[in-house]
Amino acid sequence: MAKADKMNTLPLPPRPDRTSQRISNYVANIMATSQQLLALLRSHIDGDNEHFLSVAMQVAAHEARLGHGNFAKQLRDLVDKARTPKADRTSKPIPFAQPKGDLASLISASYSETRLASMVLPNALETRLKRIITEQLQQHNLNKHGLHPRRKILLVGPSGAGKTMTAAALAGELSLPLFTVVFDGLITRFMGETAAKLRLVFDAMLETRGVYFFDEFDAIGAKRTAENDVGEMRRVLNSFLQFLENDDSDSLIIAATNHAELLDSALFRRFDDVIHYELPDSAIAENILKTRLSCFDTKGVDWKKLAEKTTGFCQAEVTKIANEAAKRVVLDGRSQVEQDDLLAAIKERETVSIAHQSPARTKYLGT
Ligand SMILES: Nc1ncnc2c1ncn2[C@@H]1O[C@H](COP(=O)(O)OP(=O)(O)OP(=O)(O)O)[C@@H](O)[C@H]1O
Ligand SMILES: [Mg+2]
Repeated sequence: MAKADKMNTLPLPPRPDRTSQRISNYVANIMATSQQLLALLRSHIDGDNEHFLSVAMQVAAHEARLGHGNFAKQLRDLVDKARTPKADRTSKPIPFAQPKGDLASLISASYSETRLASMVLPNALETRLKRIITEQLQQHNLNKHGLHPRRKILLVGPSGAGKTMTAAALAGELSLPLFTVVFDGLITRFMGETAAKLRLVFDAMLETRGVYFFDEFDAIGAKRTAENDVGEMRRVLNSFLQFLENDDSDSLIIAATNHAELLDSALFRRFDDVIHYELPDSAIAENILKTRLSCFDTKGVDWKKLAEKTTGFCQAEVTKIANEAAKRVVLDGRSQVEQDDLLAAIKERETVSIAHQSPARTKYLGT
């Protein structure tokens, strides 16, 4: 074998300068981490909470420099959470149980297990919802600087697009009770009575921090000049606007509607945020299906071919399609979802949707 060939087959020795640089970086990292660990323990033993948290922030900065952005963010979020006084974090009303007296017929209370992570959302929407959560969690920090978290939110979009689920997810993420305002109880035939009931709800917001959810808000938010403008509804809307404007509780007020076009323009500017929901595009629909079917084997599904077939279905319907397909698989004693399972569920859902589609939704879909 020629000398040159021999040289080529021999493993090249590591370049000393690079390797030693790597080793020294590695050692420096370990040293930094162990020093930080020692500092964390010391501050914990000394009961020096502020020092403990500032070391944790140093660790976060160190990890960020190493390119571990996600981990660094988690650390920073935890430190922020720890810095929020307990009273703010756990202002879960103690005797909240169920609303009593007149309030009982106006709001239904629940604790929500829903999390934002269970929702499949377009990036921009997810960012806006996360901002609400961050601002709420850092309420104390914002207040110190004379700032206030956004907390009066209007959700607008078609039926089944996730508005109610969002209210539940916000309550779940913030560990706050979810109070859903029951319109049947709120709106009465008698002048003045509705406004008085509305006042009870707004009073409750001051007393018990929570997520107050006004679903199908157009019932009270309809235009003051619209043809259906009966005196009582105008009065109710005016009171609502006034209550909303004056409210400076710590509660979140979330209103949802399918009919933004019916809402009075005066309402929009009184909300801190107006968030629009859309029917899912094929990527979101595919993601909902995949998430729902994640405990099954879906190798046999051709997602590309399915994409166009899910057009026009709302998120709620796509969820139902996934559930129906899953049931077929389970009842057949299989573990693999086939294309046919989903196609059959889509077909079935098409029939149901067309038969029960509301006129507004038919118009929305252009069918
Ligand atoms: N973004 C989403 N990700 C995953 N599932 C969703 C999403 N949006 C809706 N769903 C599913 O659809 C169901 C119904 O959605 P939701 O009740 O929130 O719709 P909505 O916008 O409030 O509709 P409506 O206007 O008719 O009240 C949810 O319980 C959930 O199963
Ligand atoms: Mg809803």
